[in-house]
Amino acid sequence: MASEQMTLAAYLEAWSAGDASRQEVSATILEMAKASAELSALVAEGPFVRGLAKTIGDAGGGDVKKFLDVEAHKLFKAALQNAPVAAIGSEEADNAEILNEKAPLVVAIDPLDGSSNIETNVSIGTIFSVLPVAEGMSPDEALLQAGNAQVASGFVLYGPQTTLVMTVRDGTQLFTMSPKDRVFRLTRANLQISPNKAEYAINASNERHWPKPVQTYMRELNAGTAGARQRDFNMRWVGSLVAEAYRILIRGGIFLYPGDSRPGYEAGRLRLVYEAIPLALLMTEAGGAASDGTRAILDIKPDDLHQRIPLVFGPPDEVRRIEYYFQVPPVEQDSPLFSDRGLLRD
Ligand code: AHG
Ligand code: MN
Ligand code: MN
Repeated sequence: MASEQMTLAAYLEAWSAGDASRQEVSATILEMAKASAELSALVAEGPFVRGLAKTIGDAGGGDVKKFLDVEAHKLFKAALQNAPVAAIGSEEADNAEILNEKAPLVVAIDPLDGSSNIETNVSIGTIFSVLPVAEGMSPDEALLQAGNAQVASGFVLYGPQTTLVMTVRDGTQLFTMSPKDRVFRLTRANLQISPNKAEYAINASNERHWPKPVQTYMRELNAGTAGARQRDFNMRWVGSLVAEAYRILIRGGIFLYPGDSRPGYEAGRLRLVYEAIPLALLMTEAGGAASDGTRAILDIKPDDLHQRIPLVFGPPDEVRRIEYYFQVPPVEQDSPLFSDRGLLRD
């Protein structure tokens, strides 16, 4: 069905033909795409928009709120008023906000991911998750379903190109916005995560705070050809989750933002509902895996809209390896045999 260069609208029309529920999902994604094209233009104006990167408040837990965070939230909220969406659960609002109360869908959103990179002209993005409102379910309950319930998810990357990576559970599709007519066109169909890329993404400055299984895993990667992995690894850390996710979907690699011993970071920094869950569906649809170190992200039922979750994603073998280290008693991990022997020798 998917042919290169087809527009997002044509892709969604073909996918939803004759199916009213799918047409509701398509309408929602098209509204998200329209708003993201507008946000892309605002981001590109940069310093010409007074205070674009200005901090306007404290979002709590070490997160600051930037002007663009709030502008992005307003943009997507206004757009979703025109879609069959009952409520929006946003990083930028304490509680879910009702839109079209009786509508069949809800949207969880990180309107602007990578806020710390706004003033550094580094790629930033928007992450979204689309969930059904089941019979008798309130919009709030609908937003707190496990990720397996999602009908769609995606992220937009505002970088050298503006790209939309999206799934309606029919593979992970990459659409690029043409600068000429600002229309999203399919540029890569059915992305598949490469299992062999020796590249990791982690904020290495937190090494002393990581749990032992992560220290063990990272020590092995950094031991290179002399260690259990018998290969050298490269490191990339952009500081925008969407940029790391895009790179890993395009060329492979493993991403980790573990919980750590810093106060407030017990469950890491990233949010379950509007960062980990949408990304987990995209990674899984691309043949990858996503975990909190012990459970598949898609199986986890959120308790709270803003709860944090440790997040690891990439090729299934790497995710499984990290999960195994969380099961092995720490004392065993100290023995030189453990590292030399290597668990799942490549
Ligand atoms: P947000 O700007 O939506 O708060 O997300 C920022 C997140 C994520 O994009 C990125 O991977 C992570 O914060 C970077 O965290 P550190 O600054 O601790 O490395
Ligand atoms: Mn974010
Ligand atoms: Mn954000």
